Amino acid sequence: MSDIPSYEVKEINFQVKSTPESIARGKKLTMMLCANCHMNEETKKLTGKRMLDAPLEFGKIYSQNITQDKEHGIGNWTAGELVYLLRTGIKKNGQYSPPYMAKLPKMADEDINAILSFLQSNNSMVTPDDSPDTPSDPSLLTKILCRVAFKPFTFPSEKIEMPDTNNKVELGKYLAQNLDCFSCHSADFKTNNFLAPELSKGYFAGGNKPLDLQGRIMLTPNLTPDNETGIGSWTKEEFVNAVKYGMKKGEKALQYPMMPYTQLSDMEAESIFEYLQTIPGIKNKVERSIYE
Ligand code: HEC
Ligand code: HEC
Repeated sequence: MSDIPSYEVKEINFQVKSTPESIARGKKLTMMLCANCHMNEETKKLTGKRMLDAPLEFGKIYSQNITQDKEHGIGNWTAGELVYLLRTGIKKNGQYSPPYMAKLPKMADEDINAILSFLQSNNSMVTPDDSPDTPSDPSLLTKILCRVAFKPFTFPSEKIEMPDTNNKVELGKYLAQNLDCFSCHSADFKTNNFLAPELSKGYFAGGNKPLDLQGRIMLTPNLTPDNETGIGSWTKEEFVNAVKYGMKKGEKALQYPMMPYTQLSDMEAESIFEYLQTIPGIKNKVERSIYE
């Protein structure tokens, strides 16, 4: 009972198809989805670091070196092993990766391919770097949670298609769910549903409690179209400015862990807005967490 559980690793055959377009798309997704945790300020590469915003009760959590180094990075992982981890949360040695690591059970195969093509590219963020990993030291609580609350996902049995990019609401939904917006902006990490995000408790109504780098709670705002407590009265421009640049009219800029999504095109950010306007409004007033 004293360890993170292990599971069977299914062998997945995945051929990465690399094109200049897939590498560019993969870079954009990696910057938005992985760099926040894996980027090391000293090496300027994805060599991992201490996760200062992981609640202390989870233990000491370190992200790992995911450059192409064969010994310290993931240079000796096959594409199939990587896809299996990203889809299910199970590492190549069978161990479940603690709740902190991103999981992408619903991302389109084409986008998974893009992330892998970037990780295998010659971009300086991912070329081999021999910085050693510091293993995480998960607490008993994390180990228990990984047995009772957090379970690996089943590997998808069918190909997952890209959304219709001409349909803004559909595109916005895909981005809002796969860029993890919903996981921070719903009620609680523990009640999020990654396979059916809409069934997450308080879907997009905020109140979740991620931490900043000093370990202080940063309450997440309500992004449902409720006029009083959500963003029902926001304009598209206000939304795009907040998401891409962290700007809020007449207020302090948005703080960590709400990172500016500068990689999103205006059209993509607007699509997220259009999607959010279609979901049920929920009345839930969240006070902004401001520390001086
Ligand atoms: C919220 C933080 C977070 C995000 C976001 C994140 N990771 Fe991780 N990742 C971690 C942590 C923490 C670990 C170490 C888990 C452990 O201790 O077993 C890890 C482990 C890994 C590993 C296993 C490495 C090894 O040697 O065992 C790979 C591969 C990986 N991440 C790739 C990615 C990719 C690709 C993305 C983006 C799609 C990503 N991660 C996003 C935190 C994160
Ligand atoms: C790691 C958690 C996290 C993720 C992921 C995240 N957010 Fe946030 N978001 C926050 C927090 C916390 C705030 C409040 C920051 C503050 O008060 O300074 C916030 C603020 C916002 C705001 C401002 C709302 C208001 O009422 O002030 C918008 C809009 C927003 N996020 C949209 C998004 C979108 C769109 C995505 C996905 C592309 C996203 N967020 C992903 C945590 C997150």
